[in-house]
Amino acid sequence: MINKRIYLCLAHMSEAGLEQKYIKEAFDTNWVVPLGPNVNGFEEDLKQYVNHNKEVVALSAGTAAVHLALLACGVGAGDEVIVQSFTFCASAHPVVYCGATPVFVDSETDSWNMDPQLLEQAIKDRIIITGKTPKAIVPVALYGMPYKVDEIMEIANRYGIPVIEDAAEGFGSKFDGQMLGTFGAFGVLSFNGNKMITTSGGGALICGDADSKNKIMWYATQAREAYPYYQHEEIGYNYRMSNICAGIGRGQMTVVEDHVKHHQHVCKLYKELFAEVEGIELHENPSSRYESNYWLNTITIDPSIKVKGEEFAYADAVQGAVGGAAGVVHAGGSVHTDCEPNNNIEAMRIYLDKAGIEARPLWKPMHKQPVYKNAPAYVNGVSEALFKTGMCLPSGPCVTDEDVRYIVDCIKEAIE
Ligand SMILES: Cc1ncc(COP(=O)(O)O)c(C=O)c1O
Repeated sequence: MINKRIYLCLAHMSEAGLEQKYIKEAFDTNWVVPLGPNVNGFEEDLKQYVNHNKEVVALSAGTAAVHLALLACGVGAGDEVIVQSFTFCASAHPVVYCGATPVFVDSETDSWNMDPQLLEQAIKDRIIITGKTPKAIVPVALYGMPYKVDEIMEIANRYGIPVIEDAAEGFGSKFDGQMLGTFGAFGVLSFNGNKMITTSGGGALICGDADSKNKIMWYATQAREAYPYYQHEEIGYNYRMSNICAGIGRGQMTVVEDHVKHHQHVCKLYKELFAEVEGIELHENPSSRYESNYWLNTITIDPSIKVKGEEFAYADAVQGAVGGAAGVVHAGGSVHTDCEPNNNIEAMRIYLDKAGIEARPLWKPMHKQPVYKNAPAYVNGVSEALFKTGMCLPSGPCVTDEDVRYIVDCIKEAIE
């Protein structure tokens, strides 16, 4: 037993404390507003980092970035948007904010992300059923892993549909050596407390050019028209990043590459340590074209593996929500749902929790979420099977080599 709790991915500040220096500057110069030198500086740092003749707008959240990208693609009431089903809800919810309908597409087994074949099938089918082409496609870099960028972009271009890359979890990941978020019309980044870098809460949208950056900034600042008084001809949002948060971001940009390397190093170590463990498979880059940041390292556990305490796996109702850091959760209705991780996964989660290790099931696919029960879905069983057999393991910059060894030892110990 070790004397601390090991979390999936905690915020980690620069050694030099640059985050505080930039925040102090903001206070000293009275730029305590959602614009200013830190916002401009952070955007410039991000632009240099993604390095593909792109523009970047800093926003209050990754969710806001998804929302504004959809608006910029013209998504409105009655439209449909194709979204990867295997994702966190923030890839899909903004489609509903626009009055549109998400159409979910399942995953392939290589990257665990949007299956290009199913994507094309869904596009063809939606055109026949609705008479309209979907307004956008949202592939997701789940746990940092790049999607099949070339195949998805080829299909999207053939049908003339803009791609909004949800790289919220994939900041620093590359496909064919190019940063995720720079292939499509827009790229979404998140700087929430648990991401590759943090601004406490925050996000950014990578845009194609200065015009689209301007449009996004306009939407993000209440869509104000150029008059000496407030004149509004479209609905806007208050989504700009604060100059204080951007100060944290500027400091964090000095460690982003260290963070990426650290997560990748943790992956290597897991690989080494799991090599001899039967029934456990680590999810890795499917080929050398993929360069995941390994934001969260993930494993699948064979259903035949028996884990200690499996018979009591769902005996008690959970008293909170996964990632309930915001502290606001609904009391669960029951212990079970009609689609849940296998008993050995839940038993492993409980075992690790008792050993001081945070582990989580993989994200539950959107097409299995009650809130989306009426949304069209094109499925092949892949994300549902992964959800039932998979889990995320600690991977962040605070996770040491010793922690990784301890985690793998505990996992081995938990297997009967
Ligand atoms: C895949 C994905 N998309 C979007 C988001 C939204 O980002 P944020 O939490 O910054 O709103 C997140 C993370 O939370 C995410 O994991």
